[in-house]
Amino acid sequence: MKLLVLGSGGREHAILWSLDQTSDLALELYCAPGNAGIAEIATCKPISLTDHSTLIKLVKTEAIDLTIVGPEAPLADGIVDEFERNGLAIVGPSQAASRLESSKAFAKDFMARHKIPTAEYRVVKSAGEAEEILRSGAFGPAASRAVVKADGLAAGKGVIVANSRAEAEKSARMLMGGELVGAEAARQVLIEEALYGTEASLLLFADGRDYALMPPARDHKRIGENDTGPNTGGMGAVTGASILEAKTLHRVVREIVEPTLAGARAEGFPFRGALFLGLMLTADGPKLLEYNVRLGDPETQAILVRLKTSLVDIFEAIRTGRLRDVKVEWTNDSSACVVLASHGYPAQYNMNVPIEGLDGVASLEDVTVFHAGTKRSEAGELVTAGGRVLGVTARGETLEKALGYCYHAVEQIKWEGMQYRRDIGKFREPPSKTSG
Ligand code: AMP
Ligand code: GLY
Repeated sequence: MKLLVLGSGGREHAILWSLDQTSDLALELYCAPGNAGIAEIATCKPISLTDHSTLIKLVKTEAIDLTIVGPEAPLADGIVDEFERNGLAIVGPSQAASRLESSKAFAKDFMARHKIPTAEYRVVKSAGEAEEILRSGAFGPAASRAVVKADGLAAGKGVIVANSRAEAEKSARMLMGGELVGAEAARQVLIEEALYGTEASLLLFADGRDYALMPPARDHKRIGENDTGPNTGGMGAVTGASILEAKTLHRVVREIVEPTLAGARAEGFPFRGALFLGLMLTADGPKLLEYNVRLGDPETQAILVRLKTSLVDIFEAIRTGRLRDVKVEWTNDSSACVVLASHGYPAQYNMNVPIEGLDGVASLEDVTVFHAGTKRSEAGELVTAGGRVLGVTARGETLEKALGYCYHAVEQIKWEGMQYRRDIGKFREPPSKTSG
């Protein structure tokens, strides 16, 4: 069976690794565009994910049986619809279903229509309108927090949790002025009530009607230890029983998962693919911060090392609407992924720095290193090629053990300027409403 994964990060390396690990079939794996780590297990094709016609040509000439989409941009661009129009098998949500991620205004209106618990919000089209709403007191007094978000895809740079009304007004002005994200993404801006609580991510596979939950996960977004400094794509993630207790998980399923899938079906865009729920566990119960219509990065690395069921079977079942026939099973332990990043990330970073120590780590049984930004130099040496470079991932009986395996491996890897957080899995107490 020939499988193609679209993307080039740690998430895509983990998907390909897991396809291979969990299946008894003889698989021929392809990736576009891929990276140096992926090239060790798959044939990489240097095709841009915006070039749908060349991707379609590749699938036809290589007779690929199934394509799996990693990141959100091609989904928002309608790659799934295009493949299906060409009679090609692909796993991922349609362009219509992808609006749950590609437009935060669409997603919030959808949550409102289906009574899914979320923060109060308003959609505005000008900085003046933002000011008017913030000054009306609808989102609290001047000194209180409010959240300002660009409507469109912004690679994590479009959300500002402002600590005062003045900061919220300034953020709205900067977003709308195109200073923080592309002008198109910020044509509309959302003003939201700030929620207080602990964050968690719940991911699930869905086939348009049935679904299978993945182990709840949690990531670290800030570059610095103790959650300081700017936001990144994610500096690490963990899974384990402590992240979402059973009672809360049941509530999330009843109040968020099921209304979402039923709502999408009722509105004519049944959700097929991997759905990511960003949650805030508040004193009033779990609330939905956002949807992503794809697997998370680095959550996927930590999640997939715990998968026991064939990922090929799961993807096939999603595509053909037969998920209820597949029993999706996970190991009963914990896992962690520690991201190693380039000097300077998430601002401008340097590249082409030789990476040392991976051979030693390869012999560690408990640890898997997923590549994100790596490539081979002309001399064949493994060098850095992105902001996030590697995701050192391990399972353990307890989260402490999983983290121990990761950090033991991290100590053996080095390159000039390598940075990582030493506090993955240790979450700070969230700010409370009164102290915020
Ligand atoms: P999002 O991309 O919408 O998940 O937002 C990114 C991050 O901003 C989240 O993971 C939260 O840490 C924070 N955030 C988003 N919305 C809110 C909110 N309404 N209240 C508090 N924090 C928020
Ligand atoms: N780690 C968060 C995301 O993938 O969006």
